[in-house]
Amino acid sequence: MAVVLIGMMGSGKSTVGRKLASALKWDWIDLDRVIEQRAGKSISKIFEEQGEEVFRELETLALFEIEPKDALVLSVGGGAPVNEKNFERLKKLGTIVYLRASHRTLLRRVSAKAAKRPLITTDTAEKLAQLLDSREKTYLQADAVIQVDGQTPKEIVQKLRGVLGA
Ligand code: S3P
Repeated sequence: MAVVLIGMMGSGKSTVGRKLASALKWDWIDLDRVIEQRAGKSISKIFEEQGEEVFRELETLALFEIEPKDALVLSVGGGAPVNEKNFERLKKLGTIVYLRASHRTLLRRVSAKAAKRPLITTDTAEKLAQLLDSREKTYLQADAVIQVDGQTPKEIVQKLRGVLGA
């Protein structure tokens, strides 16, 4: 069994992914970190120097290089599931769980580090709302949805284990 965590920036995909993998003794892959390692630079630098289009190509490439395997937690960047081809790939890689957070929660969580998030560096609240609005329909195609507002990472891990029966 494997699980793929999707959701907006600030929804906790990385934090929760790492904790879930550690609790289950599964492997954990964070797609953004894979992209950064391959490129030898941060996501912000990729956006700055090469633009979003190139970043999306690198993201798709990295995603398709991950082989389906058992006992894997995969956290992917907020935009990864938007491309239909990517979403189909995610389905092959595991049970897709959407970590769903309200705009208010997301804004609180990303505000401090908005500078590191190229898509919402300026006009953070408004851009976050636009992205959430345009992506929600895709995210809701996940196999399961966990509402994360007001939940600690530990509580979310418990819920995920319930969903997975693991
Ligand atoms: C993005 C989210 C980021 C990162 C990139 C683009 C997005 O990942 O992949 O900045 O389009 O929502 P996180 O969701 O892990 O912050």
